[in-house]
Amino acid sequence: MIRLDKYLSDCGLGTRKEVKKLIREGIVKVNGEVIVTSSFVFDETSEVSVEDEIIPYQKYVYIMLHKPAGYISATESREANVLDLIEEYYKGLYPVGRLDKDTEGLLLITNDGPLGHQLLSPKKHVEKEYIVQVNHPLSEMDLKQFADGIQWKDESFLPAKVFQSDTTEYHVIIQEGKFHQIKRMFQALDNEVVYLKRIRMKNLILDDSLEIGQYRFLTDEEIEDLKR
Ligand code: URA
Repeated sequence: MIRLDKYLSDCGLGTRKEVKKLIREGIVKVNGEVIVTSSFVFDETSEVSVEDEIIPYQKYVYIMLHKPAGYISATESREANVLDLIEEYYKGLYPVGRLDKDTEGLLLITNDGPLGHQLLSPKKHVEKEYIVQVNHPLSEMDLKQFADGIQWKDESFLPAKVFQSDTTEYHVIIQEGKFHQIKRMFQALDNEVVYLKRIRMKNLILDDSLEIGQYRFLTDEEIEDLKR
């Protein structure tokens, strides 16, 4: 059994305060009947709808977004942000970590706070893989620096794995998520990132059938793998 406000906020429709407002507006139905009381208790298997759109119960919502350039990784902003790309019912979600405005690729969007914490914790060393196009090819010395860990100004970056995929294109795997990390690592080697796309976070791989700007819900298997 579950309260109506908890049901809707678990499903990513907003904070408790936001969903209470939806309920008061009289647009929420349980088994076809309009319910205006947030404390209404019912069985999770009942049919719940908002403006006649059925909202199946899920404890948390997990979305894989193929982020386009031009959107910032925030929940509220004057500029276009990644949540603008997600259906407007999903107000209670946030991106796990940030991609720069000009970076494309995999962004996980959820309301599962514990999982988000775990994936971002510096202690967990969660791998992130990027396709990076740069100004000029890396030298043997540059590759050694990536493997040893780069020191730059008063910052130090842990060792990263680098594989060349074209003359000036590399796959770079890092285990941290520092501000502008990839760009700064290349800058430290007097190079410049001209294109950046994230394709993996831990074992979650960007679905290449997703067009830029599209999203889909994670499968149960992907969710389990991320939690492992
Ligand atoms: N590193 C960067 O420099 N930018 C990103 O968006 C992600 C990693």
